Amino acid sequence: MVEKPPPLPEAGITTANPMTCSLRIRTNSPEQTQAVGRSIGEQAQAGDIYLLTGSLGAGKTCLTQGIAWGLGVPGYARSPTFVLMTRYQGRMVLHHVDLYRIGDSEEAWDLGLEEQLTGDGVCVVEWADRAAEIFPQDCLWIELSYGDSVDCRDITLEISGESSGESPAPRFKPLLASLRELDWAREAKT
Ligand SMILES: Nc1ncnc2c1ncn2[C@@H]1O[C@H](COP(=O)(O)OP(=O)(O)O)[C@@H](O)[C@H]1O
Ligand SMILES: [Mg+2]
Repeated sequence: MVEKPPPLPEAGITTANPMTCSLRIRTNSPEQTQAVGRSIGEQAQAGDIYLLTGSLGAGKTCLTQGIAWGLGVPGYARSPTFVLMTRYQGRMVLHHVDLYRIGDSEEAWDLGLEEQLTGDGVCVVEWADRAAEIFPQDCLWIELSYGDSVDCRDITLEISGESSGESPAPRFKPLLASLRELDWAREAKT
């Protein structure tokens, strides 16, 4: 059964630093996190890789659900924890990978993620920090963490390359800029 996505709710930008190519968005409900994901999915381009980190229940799958909707995937994306990866068809293919159960990077290599990481679809990886070495430079890292109240989460988006002193992936700069500029309140009413 295809379930209808909820309308875009409000969300808030708590940190926006154009100098560091990172952006922190605070959400106060799962729907707001989905809305952030949906905006990412709407702007996704072929070959994009989103690397999600954060503890259990932080909202990685919730954000991925929004990305799936943004890509036009109907219904709900479930966590692929037990099957490790799931493939969805939207306006592009979405590969949803979950590395929770892998022991190390070598095991991640053995999964054979080449197709997911080098194809012309979009790849979202939960628990990406468990195998950080296997990913190419040009990825968008997205860390989810618990905020001060039960439904509060901080979503920090960071373009890789920054900490190593290399030039951050230019591909994601417009995406961060648009998330920063997005009028969440206005979209919530449409
Ligand atoms: N602001 C929020 N953003 C995302 N999830 C939230 C938020 N507030 C509460 N939640 C709840 O937290 C849980 C997140 O679960 P999930 O996305 O599966 O986490 P993860 O994949 O990181 O383990 C869900 O039960 C969701 O309803
Ligand atoms: Mg999950």
